Amino acid sequence: MPPTDHPAWQALRRHRFELDDVHMRDLFARDRGRFERYHATVGDVLVDYSKHRIDDTTLALLLDLARQAGVPRMIEAMCTGERINRTEDRAVLHTALRYQGDAAIEVDGADVMPEVRAVLARMRTFSDAVRDGAHAGRSGRSITDVVNIGIGGSDLGPKMVTTALAPYQHERLRSHFVSNVDPSDIGDVLRRVDPDTTLFLVASKTFTTQETMANAHSARAWFVERTGDEAAVARHFVAISTNAEAVAAFGIAPESTFGFWDWVGGRFSLWSAVGLPIMLAIGPERFDELLQGAFEADRHLRDAPLERNVPVLLALIGVWYHNFWGAATHAILPYDHHLARFAAYFQQADMESNGKHVDREGRPVGVDTGPIVWGEPGTNGQHAFYQLLHQGTRLVPCDFLAAARSHAPLGDHHDMLLSNVFAQGEALMRGRTSEEARAALLADDASLADDPGRLALLTAATTFEGNRPSTTFLYPQLTPRTLGTLIALLEHKIFVQGVIWNVNSFDQMGVELGKVLAKGVLRDLRGDEPVTSHDASTNALIEAYRRMRAG
Ligand code: F6P
Repeated sequence: MPPTDHPAWQALRRHRFELDDVHMRDLFARDRGRFERYHATVGDVLVDYSKHRIDDTTLALLLDLARQAGVPRMIEAMCTGERINRTEDRAVLHTALRYQGDAAIEVDGADVMPEVRAVLARMRTFSDAVRDGAHAGRSGRSITDVVNIGIGGSDLGPKMVTTALAPYQHERLRSHFVSNVDPSDIGDVLRRVDPDTTLFLVASKTFTTQETMANAHSARAWFVERTGDEAAVARHFVAISTNAEAVAAFGIAPESTFGFWDWVGGRFSLWSAVGLPIMLAIGPERFDELLQGAFEADRHLRDAPLERNVPVLLALIGVWYHNFWGAATHAILPYDHHLARFAAYFQQADMESNGKHVDREGRPVGVDTGPIVWGEPGTNGQHAFYQLLHQGTRLVPCDFLAAARSHAPLGDHHDMLLSNVFAQGEALMRGRTSEEARAALLADDASLADDPGRLALLTAATTFEGNRPSTTFLYPQLTPRTLGTLIALLEHKIFVQGVIWNVNSFDQMGVELGKVLAKGVLRDLRGDEPVTSHDASTNALIEAYRRMRAG
């Protein structure tokens, strides 16, 4: 059913106008129990969703919407292997990759868990061998550098998690990630590594992705050229893919191949063999903790009642802003420097999942779907784009993330960091009234009272309307387990939003057209005939490129 047909959608439309003139500052002032009611804990992650333009009526209506959209049924359908990815006719079972129980999880009557465990066991054996030096390079020296070649889901997850868990990194192993077909990417990495001690992981679900294949071929050519040892490719190249045939054609043997399955979406694949660079970096035990943390969130998604179900609540609150308050973007702002790639990871997870214009039946979806997701770590962002968050004309719901303990304590840096994240949430919510702004200006410079024009100008400029929403995720420390919980909670939020909008969150047809056109353009770039087959702009750009390239 189109989302707008749900009675709760209509009720929410009316309710939104009731909240038009309600300020969160007043909601907090009237209701001492607001935080108590509007926060929850999953694993060791505290989620504060009290700084939102919501009250009990809003939540009740949003929960009605979740029920009317069939969220509980779809959660079960996903977790039990139904083919909910209808366009690709596939199950969606990244939850099986981190499942810690002993029940069967079936796709078409076959339990997938034995295979999941078998691949994990092979990954553990291999990781241990690389980490302890038993799997050495061709000259017998231990591996020092691991280069993951992949893009999109075969890059962002491993890179984000490896960066996030840098404090757990094996002391001999350096991790590198090559994704872009821009030769500068692989060039920068190859300049820094020694072929004798480098392990290449070629990660691609399809093993056909242009960028990954180009980089993998270039890496292999570089390796053979440097070592003159074609036979050593087997020791230095590993493949991670669902496409065993293409891997074999590339020349990587089955014993160096780690498989996964079509029911693992690329952007949800870090929990599969795609996580091998993570396991190499942090070790199999820590990787298990990452899976356990995610399982905690999976269990919560399935077992928690809707009204206490964090991914469901986060999803609903997101829908509330995007569809009823006109917010087009969503900012992810970790006050945790190692989460530098967290926003980039969720940009793909969210925008590739819910950037859809037709619903699950192929009809126009009729409402705005996925938000534009962006963000940078704090406090850096404060000195860059927060001006717009505080005083701009747009509404940008924000997620703040912060750990109570740093992995690298230093003086009172961490307290300073946390004072900033809490202050930002408070400032966005409270704002500063014109009376407060005026009083602060006069307290600072009493002579302004003699210049009413300037006082009015400065008062206007230093007034903050506030009432700007944020969710805060607070956790004791960024451990593998905590990170697993955080990622899985936000993955599930995206899924639930897709259910509300009635879109298929698990295909990504929108990336295909550009890929197809790029093939034709590449042919034209290689030729020297006048280019006429595109629009005038593209023809001219191709010819200008050819001239510049030549000279
Ligand atoms: O082009 C988009 C995409 O298909 C993503 O969904 C995927 O994560 C990425 O490309 C990489 O795909 P593959 O792992 O098959 O190389």
